[in-house]
Amino acid sequence: MKTIAVLNGPNLNRLGARQPEIYGKASLEDLHTLLQGKAKELGLALSFFQSNHEGALVDEIGRQSDAGVHGLIINPAAFSHTSIALRDAIECSELVTIEVHISNIYSREPFRHHSVTSEVATGVISGLGFEGYSLALQYLAHHLNLTQ
Ligand code: DQA
Repeated sequence: MKTIAVLNGPNLNRLGARQPEIYGKASLEDLHTLLQGKAKELGLALSFFQSNHEGALVDEIGRQSDAGVHGLIINPAAFSHTSIALRDAIECSELVTIEVHISNIYSREPFRHHSVTSEVATGVISGLGFEGYSLALQYLAHHLNLTQ
């Protein structure tokens, strides 16, 4: 079965408890359940990974790329705005990558307006809540012809 990697960065393990007025009341586990349902419909497998540590995310991107995963959905969270290491990891993975932000980073503080990782992503979805991940999955499935 074709696999898509879903990576979430720092503090996203605290979804549900963390600023629900911005990120909603649902947890990371709820997100995984939602995506599993969508992946089942599409006939895809998902590999989930969350870390608060930059190096662990870098390692995971390399691992998934070497394992032959078919696409990457990543919310690098705060590392989007700072991490050249994560940007390089995405770039050299050569994976078709969709960057997702739950909130609209362009309507928030100015320091969130720039994402260094988005420059090497195929596309970015920002501000659509959990639906952004679902749409990213749908895009990858169709774009990469994974459902044939
Ligand atoms: C976020 C937006 C980032 O600016 C922030 O640091 C996050 C979450 C989002 O999903 O909206 O942790 O990536």
